[in-house]
Amino acid sequence: MKIIGSYPKTRLRRLRKSKWMRDLISENNISHNDLILPIFIKEGKNKIDTIKSMPGVKRYTLDKLPKILKEVKKYKIPMIALFPYISNTRKDNSGSESLNPNNLICKSLRMIKKNYPEIGVMCDVALDPYTSHGHDGILIKNKIDNDQTIKILKKQALLQAEMGCDLIAPSDMMDGRIGEIRKILDKNNFKEVSILSYAVKYASNFYGPFRDAVGSKGKLKQDKKTYQMDFRNSIEAFREVGLDIKEGADMIMIKPGAIYLDIISKIKNKFKIPVLAYQVSGEYTLIKNGIDKKYLKDDAIIESLISFKRAGACAIVTYFALEIAKKIKQIN
Ligand code: PBG
Repeated sequence: MKIIGSYPKTRLRRLRKSKWMRDLISENNISHNDLILPIFIKEGKNKIDTIKSMPGVKRYTLDKLPKILKEVKKYKIPMIALFPYISNTRKDNSGSESLNPNNLICKSLRMIKKNYPEIGVMCDVALDPYTSHGHDGILIKNKIDNDQTIKILKKQALLQAEMGCDLIAPSDMMDGRIGEIRKILDKNNFKEVSILSYAVKYASNFYGPFRDAVGSKGKLKQDKKTYQMDFRNSIEAFREVGLDIKEGADMIMIKPGAIYLDIISKIKNKFKIPVLAYQVSGEYTLIKNGIDKKYLKDDAIIESLISFKRAGACAIVTYFALEIAKKIKQIN
């Protein structure tokens, strides 16, 4: 790109001289439409738990969910992402609770779709909340078995669709699961149910607080490096996304977000498909714990979210969604 102009004829500060001018020429903005709120749910009644690892984030029993759903509706957040905290007694090697039509996710989907049909709901397809070892797939001879895992994942996806899930989001990183999930959805007449593939999910150190929130942290033996991507690489990301689009993915998730803006930008430029970013739990806690109102103001949250938009993301999954949607409403 050729740089045009020279000083003193050109003064870039003219474009920054007032707020209205800056607003007028701003290339990226954040609105409630860009936000997806993850919500943690748990069994039981009449409980809203705080989560030690994630200040300000809570876990809701089904009867208490409306408390936060009302706010989601009020502040016009288009979609929520549901994550279940499953009790230990329901966990096993193959994550069989994931296929129970009366599990926490299914009960919540039925309730939400009945009472809040205007809120989009996405669900993770992965076994980690349900397995006794905390992995996203089945452990056979100490290895995560790709093809046996897919057999369960596609049933999990179908069950979620039957319960009213709008957006199926496989976050397990098994090879070939998008094609199998698309096939089983189509065969059962769920042609309108979309697939958001976590095509680029890195084996990240930033998931720790989330694993505490869903109760898989203490369980996890070994890391997830045999299926999640190596953070030293980017070429693989192209291959992952290319394959998933061919298999039928409607949208692509990149995860984590902030330290992977290069990947968001590269994928967005190469593949003309909606790209979403996940500002994960570790990013959330870093910012949340860092804000002290004096030296680090909460405007830093907006700045972090706009950076995803600038990189090319059309929407962001963030634990700040409600807080920011409220703030945007105040400003406008
Ligand atoms: C598991 C899953 C993880 C997250 C979302 N789904 C963690 C993992 O892969 O271990 C992380 C989200 C976050 O850190 O906010 N399928």
